[in-house]
Amino acid sequence: FPKEASTPIINDEMTRKNLEIAAKELQSTNNVVGFPTETVYGLGGSALKDESVKSIYAAKNRPADNPLIIHVSSLDQLKRKLLGPNQSVPEIYEKLISKYWPGPLTLLLPVENEAISKYVTAGQSTFAVRMPSHPVARALIAISDIPLAAPSANASTRPSPTLASHVYHDLQGKIPYILDGGSCDVGVESTVVDGLVSPPMLLRPGGVSLEEIQTCDPQNWGRVKVGKKTAGDSEQVKTPGMKYKHYSPSANVVLFNGCGNGLDAIKHYLQEHHPSGPIALLRLKHFADPSQDPGLAQITVTKNLGTKGADISRNLFAMLREVDELGVSLILVEGIEETQEGLAVMNRLSKAAFVTISN
Ligand code: TXA
Ligand code: MG
Repeated sequence: FPKEASTPIINDEMTRKNLEIAAKELQSTNNVVGFPTETVYGLGGSALKDESVKSIYAAKNRPADNPLIIHVSSLDQLKRKLLGPNQSVPEIYEKLISKYWPGPLTLLLPVENEAISKYVTAGQSTFAVRMPSHPVARALIAISDIPLAAPSANASTRPSPTLASHVYHDLQGKIPYILDGGSCDVGVESTVVDGLVSPPMLLRPGGVSLEEIQTCDPQNWGRVKVGKKTAGDSEQVKTPGMKYKHYSPSANVVLFNGCGNGLDAIKHYLQEHHPSGPIALLRLKHFADPSQDPGLAQITVTKNLGTKGADISRNLFAMLREVDELGVSLILVEGIEETQEGLAVMNRLSKAAFVTISN
């Protein structure tokens, strides 16, 4: 499936049939469908039809001032469907596109084509676009030949879905189809960058790390600025997604940042707040196993998110959902250094957290 391909090769009959059903739904109705990408599952509708885009916001219960990412299957489709007649992709993106498309990298481009629904951009003068690498995502976009506006396919405020069953859990009854492509490989959303400002900005850390972007094109991206993490409710921000409650399970999340082996910090927290009910712990590298400690008997489930950045990213949302389903009242999570994959992981965790304990 090379960068320019517009017709995917599918060998399996059932996959082809299901892709055709979903493509037909997108072409002939204003409905939206759930589909897998390499980052998280998306909820896709035509980026060129106002009514389809409105269906996305409605199904997710998403605030209408938070713009969506448009997904394309090829550079040719980007040019044909989304760019203006005299528009080309700015040079500052060239190296990033050669290296990371298809993949988890989203770029901002100026809107110069009226075909793009105003509801996708929430009225901004730029649109966000990426070419996903998941074969089902790209085949769906190529077969329908529709650039898909697609946010993560969770109900607004919930952790993003990395399995088809997560989408079903949040959106059953609200969308006609979910394409099941198994579990998502990256596990956190795409990195969003803005090369239209100087210095260029990283608006959302994600599947491609800050260090990878800087190394890929040091001349243009060596001085990339990292956008601020949070914003007040009334604040006008570049990435409006930043100001909402996000990625949250039903149980409260307590994030521990740099707290040694964790046991003392957890005990201290429990003594001060005496929460009721069972508690879950998600560990990384430094926290000890609390199961042998009689002072921590309230922790009834401990899971290892992993020790390598890529594993932690892949497991993060699924494990938050998994322990939440067990009905715990509190989820304690060990933090990670904010380098490489850690930047995206901590960005999601600090938004999911009800409180952060720093040593
Ligand atoms: O990996 C992903 O990016 C997933 C999968 C489905 O592709 N999609 C996703 O979409 O995470 P969503 O809607 O959950 O996040 C879109 C992010 C938000 O932070 C939004 O504010 C930002 O992209 N965004 C979209 N358009 C923008 C624009 N024109 N200017 C600034 N930020 C924009
Ligand atoms: Mg989302």
